[in-house]
Formats: sequence, structure tokens, C-alpha cells
Amino acid sequence: MRVIPPRSEPPWTPPIDPRSVVAPSRDIYAAMGEENIFAMLADFYVRLETSSIRWMFADDMREASRRSAAFFVGLLGGPPLYLERYGRPMMRARHLPFPIDPAARGIWLSLFLETLEDAPTRYRFPAQHLDGFKAFLDGFSAWMMNTAPTEADTPASP
Ligand code: HEM
Repeated sequence: MRVIPPRSEPPWTPPIDPRSVVAPSRDIYAAMGEENIFAMLADFYVRLETSSIRWMFADDMREASRRSAAFFVGLLGGPPLYLERYGRPMMRARHLPFPIDPAARGIWLSLFLETLEDAPTRYRFPAQHLDGFKAFLDGFSAWMMNTAPTEADTPASP
């Protein structure tokens, strides 16, 4: 069973303006369809399954991947599945229970980028929108951080 340790400090707010994060193209859904988006997220969660941040996620990773996929379907131009099934996204608030520091965010992002490596052939991801999608993941995942960097993440001061 997942056990998330209680916070010893209030959530940390990263020095980022979330309004500067550009949403990905809503044409992506038209090219991929729901099934491919769910398959892409299922494969991403298979990668998370063996990662060092696996402990933050629910026991049932397949089901967890479906909740995420529902959000991406809406974000990429499809029907608002997440809203219909689980309510308002409020992503930063929903991530607050999990101690997402820069290191955890880095692992999450690199596994997503790995999943995208053969996305055009595997999931019919439109190649011309890959860079925009990656930029979104980079910016939005930074906004999901809620736990200050540890000393190991902070460059030593001169
Ligand atoms: C582009 C950035 C991100 C997006 C769009 C995103 C999206 C989502 C969505 C839609 C969910 C499902 C919420 C629900 O259960 O209803 C979720 C859950 C979760 N996310 Fe993220 N996320 C992002 C970044 C991150 C990062 C950087 C981490 C950690 C390093 C993370 C960790 C988690 C965890 C632990 C859950 C709970 C999964 C579960 O147990 O069901 N997320 N995320």
C-alpha cells in the first residue's frame, strides 16, 4: 500500500509563472484519437512502475495511467474526460499530497520524454507538434513541484 510521509514544511512554490506555460496544440487529439493517448500514458506508467518515484503512485498503476490519460485527452483537443469522470482538474492542488521536488520532477519528465521517442510511429503522435508538447511538459511539470530542492540539487555557491 502506498504510504506518503506527512510534510514537515508547508508546500514550496516554484519561481514560475504558470501563465507562461503554453498549452499544446489541440490538433494532436485529431491525429491520435483516444485509444492512442491512453496507450501512450499506459506505456509512460510502465516506465514509472520501475522508477525511483514509483512509491508516490497508487498501487494500481494501470488505473492511475487511465486517470492521467483522461486529462491528456481533454488537453490535446478531445472531449473533457477528466472533468466528466473525476471533476475539476486543479492539477497543482491534486499533486500537493506528493512531495515533488526538482529531482522527482526530473525523473518524471525524462521518463515521459523517453516515452515520446517513437511516439509518431507508435501512437500516431503528429511529429510537427512534438516540440510544443515537450515544452508544455517541461513548463507544467515545473509548476507541479511543491517541495524545495534538497542541497544535492542546489548548485554549490561560489
Ligand atoms: C505536465 C505535468 C503533469 C501532468 C499534466 C500531470 C497529470 C496528472 C494527472 C491527470 C493525474 C491524475 C490525478 C488523479 O488521480 O485524478 C496525476 C497524478 C499523479 N501525478 Fe501527475 N502530472 C504532471 C506532473 C507530475 C510530476 C512531475 C510528478 C512527480 C514527480 C507527478 C506525480 C503524480 C502522482 C504521484 C500522481 C498520483 C497518481 C495516482 O496514484 O493515482 N505528476 N498527474
